[in-house]
Amino acid sequence: MKTLLETQNLCKSFEDIKVLKNINLKVSEGEFIAIMGQSGSGKSTLLYNLSGMDKSSSGNVLFCGKDISMLNDDMMSEVRLKQMGFIFQNSYLLKNLSIRDNIVLPGFKARKLTREQINCNANMLMEKTGILSVADHDIKKVSGGQLQRAAICRALINQPDILFGDEPTGALNSSATREIMDILNTVNREGKTVIIVTHDAKVAARASRVIYLMDGKLHNELKLGKWDISENKKIYREKWLSEWLEKQGF
Ligand SMILES: Nc1ncnc2c1ncn2[C@@H]1O[C@H](COP(=O)(O)OP(=O)(O)OP(=O)(O)O)[C@@H](O)[C@H]1O
Ligand SMILES: [Mg+2]
Repeated sequence: MKTLLETQNLCKSFEDIKVLKNINLKVSEGEFIAIMGQSGSGKSTLLYNLSGMDKSSSGNVLFCGKDISMLNDDMMSEVRLKQMGFIFQNSYLLKNLSIRDNIVLPGFKARKLTREQINCNANMLMEKTGILSVADHDIKKVSGGQLQRAAICRALINQPDILFGDEPTGALNSSATREIMDILNTVNREGKTVIIVTHDAKVAARASRVIYLMDGKLHNELKLGKWDISENKKIYREKWLSEWLEKQGF
């Protein structure tokens, strides 16, 4: 598989504190990666550096073969808007706008697709994530799970190459978490590369590879392979990951 994202000796410091230390990571197209590690180990910092939301102190980040650490702010914003999608613990949807308007807005901003394509893509995404019936609702009148589904639709409106999530299920209960992870697994199965940060072993078990950060270093990784939906395999996989995490000191 083609490499989509790569870091070469990526380091990040905040003043004199070294947070990321020589991270060398290659992400292939179609992978689903979960970044795990203890609080403060640098997971969010790594995600923000991978996605150009933050700049490395030294080392390189290559996205689609291009060194994004060399891009200026405007060029980086363009890459983020058109080629990357983001979801966070909170959905950060705009108040006073409907679900649909929130989803199409980055589409019109990017001008990557025609108006027709944006509307059509929004409808398809809302249908797939089960929120078409609340499309024209005010965002204050829907549930947390529905908001997060809308955030996923918004992140995918410009047909990005990769979807990043920083604890995308962190604010959800277990059934909403399952629903969101089912959606992310479907999106990944359809070919989209996904990288998320999570504290939840059940969530990470859905990934094809788990990366464990310790004190800003890439400590270890576990290749799980593609997510299988059969019930027996799910339980086995979760157990396998939990045991491995315990060995890492999680
Ligand atoms: N903007 C910043 N300025 C200064 N220090 C920062 C900044 N962002 C992160 N840090 C520090 O970098 C370290 C790693 O933070 P980071 O948020 O990446 O950890 P994390 O693994 O995501 O933790 P958590 O699981 O709690 O979200 C922490 O010590 C944090 O205080
Ligand atoms: Mg974090």
